[in-house]
Amino acid sequence: MTDSDTTVTSPSTFGCSRRQLLVGSGVGVLGVASMGVLAACGSSSSGGSSVSAAADGSIAKLADIPVGGALAATGTDGKPILLVQATEGTVTAVSAVCTHQGCTVAAGTGTLTCPCHGSVFALDGSVTNGPASTPLPSVDVHVSNGTVFLGKA
Ligand code: FES
Repeated sequence: MTDSDTTVTSPSTFGCSRRQLLVGSGVGVLGVASMGVLAACGSSSSGGSSVSAAADGSIAKLADIPVGGALAATGTDGKPILLVQATEGTVTAVSAVCTHQGCTVAAGTGTLTCPCHGSVFALDGSVTNGPASTPLPSVDVHVSNGTVFLGKA
């Protein structure tokens, strides 16, 4: 393989700046380390305010969930959920997979809204405005010492 055979991929393909990609190339002789840099670029570019479950089932700090609103999260199965704190100190969760056609319902204050066709759900997952006609399924969570965990207590 010659230099002319090399395929150059735009840094933006990976969600990285040119500088991040150059740093990754410099570490590239270590192989795995290079992949770690690229993975880090991808995660940092995803943006948003979503949290993911840790190996111990913890998923968020209670303080990170707005009172009267929701926080977007990803469960251990990789599916989106919404952590809801309708009243201070009480956390519930619902699936963020819209029951209409499967788009991801957005976290919001007071209501949860699907960006695809405009269905609106109450914080308990019930439908307040279609086209969705069935509620968002609930997800078991519990709070322990200010940390929210997936599953029942
Ligand atoms: S997929 Fe959510 S309203 Fe259609």
